[in-house]
Amino acid sequence: MLTRPYRRISIPIAVLAAVGALLAQNKDRPWMNPALAPEERAELALKQMTLDEKIALLHGNGMAHVPNWQMPLTALTNGGAGYVEGVKRLGIAPIVMVDAAYGVRDSGANGRYSTAMPSVLAAASSWDVESACEYGETIGREIRAQGFNMTLGGGVNLTREPRNGRTFEYAGEDPLLAGTVVGHTMKCLQAQHAIGEVKHYAVNDQETGRNVVNAVISKRAMQESDLLAFHIAISIGNPGAVMCSYNRVNGDFACENPYLLQDVLKKQWGFKGFVLSDWAGTHSTEKASAAGLDQEQPMAAHFGPKLKEAVEAGRVPLSEIDDHARRVLYALFLSGAADDPPQKSVVDVERGLEAARRIEEKGIVLLKNDRAVLPIVASRVKRIAVIGGHADVGMISGGGSAQVDPPGGNAIMPPGKGATRWMQPVWFPTSPLKALRAKLPNAKIDFDAGADPKAAATLAKGADLAIVFAYQWQSEGMDLPNLALAGNQNELIEQVAAANPRTVVVLESGSAVTMPWLGKVAGVVEAWYAGSAGHRALANILVGETNPSGKLAMTFPASEADLPHPVIATLAAKDMWKGPVPGSAAEKYAVNYDEGAKVGYKWYEAERKQPLFAFGFGLSYTTFSYSGLTVDPAAKTARFTLTNTGKREGTEIAQVYARLPKGSDESFKRLAGWARVTLRPGESHSVTVTIDERVLRTFDEASEKWNLAAGTYEILAGPSSDRTPLAGSLAIR
Ligand code: BGC
Repeated sequence: MLTRPYRRISIPIAVLAAVGALLAQNKDRPWMNPALAPEERAELALKQMTLDEKIALLHGNGMAHVPNWQMPLTALTNGGAGYVEGVKRLGIAPIVMVDAAYGVRDSGANGRYSTAMPSVLAAASSWDVESACEYGETIGREIRAQGFNMTLGGGVNLTREPRNGRTFEYAGEDPLLAGTVVGHTMKCLQAQHAIGEVKHYAVNDQETGRNVVNAVISKRAMQESDLLAFHIAISIGNPGAVMCSYNRVNGDFACENPYLLQDVLKKQWGFKGFVLSDWAGTHSTEKASAAGLDQEQPMAAHFGPKLKEAVEAGRVPLSEIDDHARRVLYALFLSGAADDPPQKSVVDVERGLEAARRIEEKGIVLLKNDRAVLPIVASRVKRIAVIGGHADVGMISGGGSAQVDPPGGNAIMPPGKGATRWMQPVWFPTSPLKALRAKLPNAKIDFDAGADPKAAATLAKGADLAIVFAYQWQSEGMDLPNLALAGNQNELIEQVAAANPRTVVVLESGSAVTMPWLGKVAGVVEAWYAGSAGHRALANILVGETNPSGKLAMTFPASEADLPHPVIATLAAKDMWKGPVPGSAAEKYAVNYDEGAKVGYKWYEAERKQPLFAFGFGLSYTTFSYSGLTVDPAAKTARFTLTNTGKREGTEIAQVYARLPKGSDESFKRLAGWARVTLRPGESHSVTVTIDERVLRTFDEASEKWNLAAGTYEILAGPSSDRTPLAGSLAIR
């Protein structure tokens, strides 16, 4: 028998000394013991803290890139959006925050690199929990590699208003789908030891007048729609933080709204983390503190010296300060950010790109495919005309605080502007033209920029296939005037389609788009804001290496006239960005959400309006059939058979909806669950979907309680919200 020579493992003295010192130190700092529960650690640390140390946890210290928001410690923000001093004396780490809605913001400005994931709406259109997790994990890794320990991501506002400039940052119109996607994103992000967050709490559904607008909505409607999405996201993701929004809700600003913050978030839902204000969304000291705001960002106008003075004068009880500080400490311990300081490092670029590609491939939605115009069959399609959308250089991204900087800068630099900054369309250097040429080396692929629709049509005429790239740019800080493609894009598509019946439109949009040309084109592919590897994902879909499987997470209306608010609630331009207005004037700025919980598909069904494309809709290169629904009342599950009736392997997102029992006042169905199932050609599978009880309940305003009404619930299953071929029932006693 061979024996291995005994090898002595030598540990450098310095390392031993450091570990020893740490252990000794932590012996005196029991709150730094990771074996204890975060609640216990927070309590232990809090007991040691002075009033000044507590207050230091309750406000920001400026924002690096905003000249008006500089404070003495702003330099410590690491180029991010916010910085909260820790408690050095007690070994409590500072919180270094960065915007990271679809990737880490401001990386270019800081000389770093970030992966742009597809938009959150694209990820939601995958209906895929694993993708959501990978989304969060990738961003979490990059947050830490850039030296941050908290995200300002996790947007989960429902798409009430599709013209909202931030639609791309959110996960669509259904509370169960949006809450599930964002919940899993945050769960996996926070697992990287960065504090997770959800925002913008709540009913922050348009950018127009966001600092003054008063969202008026009944408690029941709000609980069953917008707030339910938050609750589901929070219960899955358990994030350390919630960001309250700029707007008022039923009179009070969201960041000093006792109903939203104390009653619902902290009491009804038992949220133990901290609430931070949106940037400059804090409006008072005593009112906000009592209402449940824990931390002002990014400054200390209300929660700095003024808060201390209010405590000393007895206007704010110390117990309130303790509650705020305890919550901030809890988030640091819960996430692991307190124990595992981020180390700046080079991110794994390839790993990020692969994740971005995979998720985009699952999120792309095939909306139309007449005469099987797609996928492109290389042996038959020899000449392709690629037209418009700057497809020769790149793909567009979403703007505002979510903006991720492309490596090398904006692929289309607007004349006279240097950097890729606020309120300016940013194009990633991800050319779909180049990606297609790489996939189809034997095809002749020509490009026309589309400036002159006639010239583009001439090119299309001689081709076997025309692909028009069209885009819709969205950004925080503005709403879309309408859902039409801007500029000459509709005209361009019309003319190209008239010249070549085999025309496919690829949309790069942040929200729904109206399509006056829909009847004239053969195919439509919704690619959303596609992220750093969007061109590769799209090319894989177009040539059929990947079979599309995404389904719309939001309704595409036929026209703006069908929306609950045909005209977006606008304010006088001079009022748009004005600061807080006194209470009585808030009336003037009200948006009345009379449609209540009828958000998206619920509205269209209740109002009997036919959308252009329904929530949950999306095609595949194969086909599926549904049969044999049975409902198990004990397990609350729906079971049915799904068969791949086509010739290719494909993935179907099978959806289950529920209707409340007769006697309820509701004229729409609610998404109750879904399954993502991959089947080979001809294969059948028995699919079991759990009916989520949270979406069956109704909220009673008088008692502030949820009811699960007894009665017979209709259970429906099918491929989209407007096509549910299977029906069954669920009796609840
Ligand atoms: C946005 C937030 C963002 C913050 C910090 C605000 O304008 O509404 O979503 O996290 O700025 O950049």
